[in-house]
Amino acid sequence: MGSTQPTFTNPATTSLLELVKARRTHYALTGESPISDDAIEHIVQSAVLHVPSSYNTQTSRVVLLLKEEHRKVWDIAIAAMEGLVAAGAVPKEMFETSTKPKLNAFRAAYGTVLFFVDYDSLAAIKEKFAIYADKFNPFALESNAMSQYLVWTALQSEGLGANLQHYSPLIDEQVQKQWNLPASWKLDAQLVFGTPSAAPGEKAFAPLEDRFKVFGK
Ligand SMILES: Cc1cc2nc3c(=O)[nH]c(=O)nc-3n(C[C@H](O)[C@H](O)[C@H](O)COP(=O)(O)O)c2cc1C
Repeated sequence: MGSTQPTFTNPATTSLLELVKARRTHYALTGESPISDDAIEHIVQSAVLHVPSSYNTQTSRVVLLLKEEHRKVWDIAIAAMEGLVAAGAVPKEMFETSTKPKLNAFRAAYGTVLFFVDYDSLAAIKEKFAIYADKFNPFALESNAMSQYLVWTALQSEGLGANLQHYSPLIDEQVQKQWNLPASWKLDAQLVFGTPSAAPGEKAFAPLEDRFKVFGK
């Protein structure tokens, strides 16, 4: 797929693109890590520090949960879903056969990275650049997604596997309470990670020619 691989001046470029290709969604994860917690923390901190944001607004907020703290977030999600079942909003059968096993599989992993956006911190810049005011929230989310992608790819590079989840707003209140987080931190995504215990599923690719054009080559 794609054009023949060119020679890059920096071998790290080839490595980077190999890592991009190797990153996949892994759902079968065990509760072990091949790397230290310090190494995981360093990856996450690097994303927080070095991923760009519009006007360098630095709107992403990130919480790294390991082992028993990680399991708490999935206990929160299970309890919230059980609440929906009790209220008749989710069929019990579906919860028992599909949702609960899925949530328990997340719980069985090693850690979860919670990605938040602090939209409130944009108040001043929205006032300063009023004509772009409606752009700042989407930009903040885009920057957050870049952090998610970097952490996902770097964890995979270190032998971990991950999957990206979205249980907001269902779990927001309990998450904020459990870890005493500022109310302005709005949860966007949860990246679940652990040691892969199975290969990722097959992935289909739409033709590159339908999705990419080059001019002036
Ligand atoms: C913005 C975004 C949101 C996603 N949300 C979810 C999600 O809520 N649950 C989930 O299981 N996977 C989610 N995924 C994973 C995608 O389904 C997955 O990346 C895609 O099928 C391609 O597979 P790959 O990750 O193995 O390359 C999301 C991915 C992206 C980029």
